[in-house]
Amino acid sequence: GADGKAFVPSISLSDLRRAPACSGPLPALKATDSHTVLIRTDLLQPGEASEPHPSPDQLQDCWDDTHVKLPCSKQNLFPADRTTLQSRWDLINKALSVPFSSSHDVKDAILTYNTGQAKGWNFTALHSFCKGLQASEVQQMFGELLPAMAQLALRAPRLLTQPIPLLRTRCCRSLTLSQEQVSCLLANAFFCTFPRRNSQRTEYSNYPDINFSRLFDGSSRAKQEKLKTLLWYFRRVTQKRPTGLITYTRQCLQRLPSWPSSEKQFSKLYISCEGCIEDQGYGMLQVDFANRFVGGGVTGSGLVQEEIRFLINPELIAARLFTEALEDNECLIVTGAEQFSRYSGYSDSFRWEGDGDDQTPRDEWQRRCTEIVAIDALHYRQFLEQFHPENMSRELNKAFCGFVRPGVQTENLSAVATGNWGCGAFGGDKRLKALLQMMAAAEAERDLVYFTFGDADLVKDVLHIHKLITDTHATVGSVFRLLLQYYECVCKKTTRSKPQETLYGFLSKHL
Ligand code: AR6
Repeated sequence: GADGKAFVPSISLSDLRRAPACSGPLPALKATDSHTVLIRTDLLQPGEASEPHPSPDQLQDCWDDTHVKLPCSKQNLFPADRTTLQSRWDLINKALSVPFSSSHDVKDAILTYNTGQAKGWNFTALHSFCKGLQASEVQQMFGELLPAMAQLALRAPRLLTQPIPLLRTRCCRSLTLSQEQVSCLLANAFFCTFPRRNSQRTEYSNYPDINFSRLFDGSSRAKQEKLKTLLWYFRRVTQKRPTGLITYTRQCLQRLPSWPSSEKQFSKLYISCEGCIEDQGYGMLQVDFANRFVGGGVTGSGLVQEEIRFLINPELIAARLFTEALEDNECLIVTGAEQFSRYSGYSDSFRWEGDGDDQTPRDEWQRRCTEIVAIDALHYRQFLEQFHPENMSRELNKAFCGFVRPGVQTENLSAVATGNWGCGAFGGDKRLKALLQMMAAAEAERDLVYFTFGDADLVKDVLHIHKLITDTHATVGSVFRLLLQYYECVCKKTTRSKPQETLYGFLSKHL
């Protein structure tokens, strides 16, 4: 049928598992060698703000290659004149304690401790945002919000009392912070206080940008909406301290599946052209169609699936501070990020639509039961590249890395909520990517929920191929071997940019 649902009756969404209903009990929250916890776990109470660990009078300062260099570190120095160095944090304190009466004051404050950027940074978007405010909003912005944000940023030495380890490549490691600590990091990002993060030629060249400087430039409507969305988050967290926790985990797989010999059967599939990952996928593992630098262009000009998710759940942006670029066998899992805003539109038509009011229940660690996984697809410029066996294996491994949870029982795993991963900005083929994600989900023993984002034909085609695969009891390995055959017999032989025989046509013939 034209609605994309009538062709093969699909299973119901309620047949698939969600957290917290499906989750097993969590162990007590405690720090280990591979899990840094920045709060007092013994005082953790529902609905109450957490205490930082250690206490602020025992602040641990650290300035090295394995930890985030914080703006409030004693070693964050700045040339006062040609011969002496001064504390950059003192300078930040002074600059952010002066009242702002216009966006130019904000700019001047930021540039006092970023003098090197005075020529390069442009604040057009911030200026036009402030120009567009109504009289009452001006008072709100300059009389309340910005001073509260500045105070939040300046609480860094009292809130972040323990060095934050970097989530470096090839290291499996978790960080648990309070939402309040994250809000302090983000307020610092807004005021561009993070040292050594304004140039590509530093020790952070393999990390995403964190300072918000690029958010302030440009004249597009989209930039205005981005600012609105992020300022709404700051308004919420400065009016009422958030009380939950968030865990950021870098997962690296040492052992990858052998795809041609996999005996796994395909799992259940729900597919619809209506709905989206963040709404209908609540309680499921929600896929972020990521860039290897997590968050992609969120602090710059990007505004597609990943950037939108980072804007409505801004605590995801903090991952950019400590997450090194993802390699092929790595993903980033964020549990507990809250949705603060609603939105409409997409890309240029994106609009902030008001408060998010996230009602997601919390787990025993006081984290919202929202699990988001950043997996970055490859960016294809030519259609045929993606059928190359090496590229298909790479995408399978990447998706599998995102979906698998070593040590967790299958019945405790929620379904995966995903969609056209890698098929927008990254140019992939939806039918191939849907199949690869089904295979990765099967290998990880999870069901799949797929939102086609309005594509009714895709619903029909994917349901058809899934039915064929499950009716014939085809294994993941046998489908992988057919993919290799499609590459050998069809893709390699074609003289056009796209082969005449489609992948699903070929599979239907050979399954
Ligand atoms: N729910 C379900 N499907 C969606 C949603 C949603 N909320 N939003 C979009 N889609 P894209 P990519 C569909 O282009 O190709 C970013 O800059 C929609 O059909 O965001 O993997 C990252 O930082 C859309 O065309 O993902 C990377 O740099 C498709 O998903 C880069 O883009 C793909 O969304 C990743 O590009």
